[in-house]
Amino acid sequence: MTFSGSAPMQSITINPPKTNVLEVQDLSVIRSGKVIIKDINLKVEKGEFLGIVGPNGSGKSTLLLSILGILKRQNGSVKIYGQLPMSPGLNGKIGWVSQAASNLPRDIRLTVRELVRLGTLNMSNMFFWSSKKQTEIVNKALSITGLESVQNTDVARLSGGQRQRAVIARALASDAEFILLDEPLVGIDRDSRNSLLRLLDSLCHDEGKTILMVSHDLTAIRQTAHRMIYLEETIRFDGPTEDFPDLETLADLRGIEPVHQHIGPHNHSHHKEE
Ligand SMILES: Nc1ncnc2c1ncn2[C@@H]1O[C@H](COP(=O)(O)OP(=O)(O)O)[C@@H](O)[C@H]1O
Ligand SMILES: [Mg+2]
Repeated sequence: MTFSGSAPMQSITINPPKTNVLEVQDLSVIRSGKVIIKDINLKVEKGEFLGIVGPNGSGKSTLLLSILGILKRQNGSVKIYGQLPMSPGLNGKIGWVSQAASNLPRDIRLTVRELVRLGTLNMSNMFFWSSKKQTEIVNKALSITGLESVQNTDVARLSGGQRQRAVIARALASDAEFILLDEPLVGIDRDSRNSLLRLLDSLCHDEGKTILMVSHDLTAIRQTAHRMIYLEETIRFDGPTEDFPDLETLADLRGIEPVHQHIGPHNHSHHKEE
């Protein structure tokens, strides 16, 4: 093959058929008689890194818990890989990392390696995997998450960031393809936060995982997610991260009127009646 001049080599892009990981239709959830989220419509494809943001109490955790099938749906449907939440066919496919990961039990003596190994125990594979295969899977999960050097350390001695990584490693060891994280950045320092975000990014790009991360840390999500959702009772924005609105437009979306008037000291237009 010859290359003429400095013309770039023609690259052929083959678009593989899209795999629908998650499909939520017209979802509403009521808790204690109050509508918490409503009219949620959402599709997530394989390899996407989706960030969900919204103020405290806006229903982010509620959405995740109803996707997982923990909370009852008032209306609508949720399909994960075309199946209902909690279907036996989903066993091992879903990884769940919550903020509680930073509160792993301190009273059990468990090394990082042992914790990650627990991930390999799930119904779909425990009878088939040889111990050699299990060791390989655990090694890979420890290496991807950068925990090799602390693999024999007691989980209780880890930093907050390392604990989150350990829980992610456990999810990877279970071969989870779809990883949901609820506020994984709370309580970890800035360096750990950045390396955790890089890890999640590479899980999408290099390992083909699909990630749905909830956070009220707008900056963090903006840095990493490909696509963002702004949730406040319902989805008010859903699009590429670069199109995420600035704060003023966001206030409009939320129906919030400016508190401060910048026109003049005697301007009372904010009392205007419709
Ligand atoms: N167990 C519950 N029973 C009733 N309401 C709840 C319960 N848990 C949370 N809520 C309410 O649901 C709303 C959304 O909560 P949540 O989904 O945790 O929000 P977020 O994760 O966005 O902070 C809040 O108003 C909260 O008070
Ligand atoms: Mg929450």
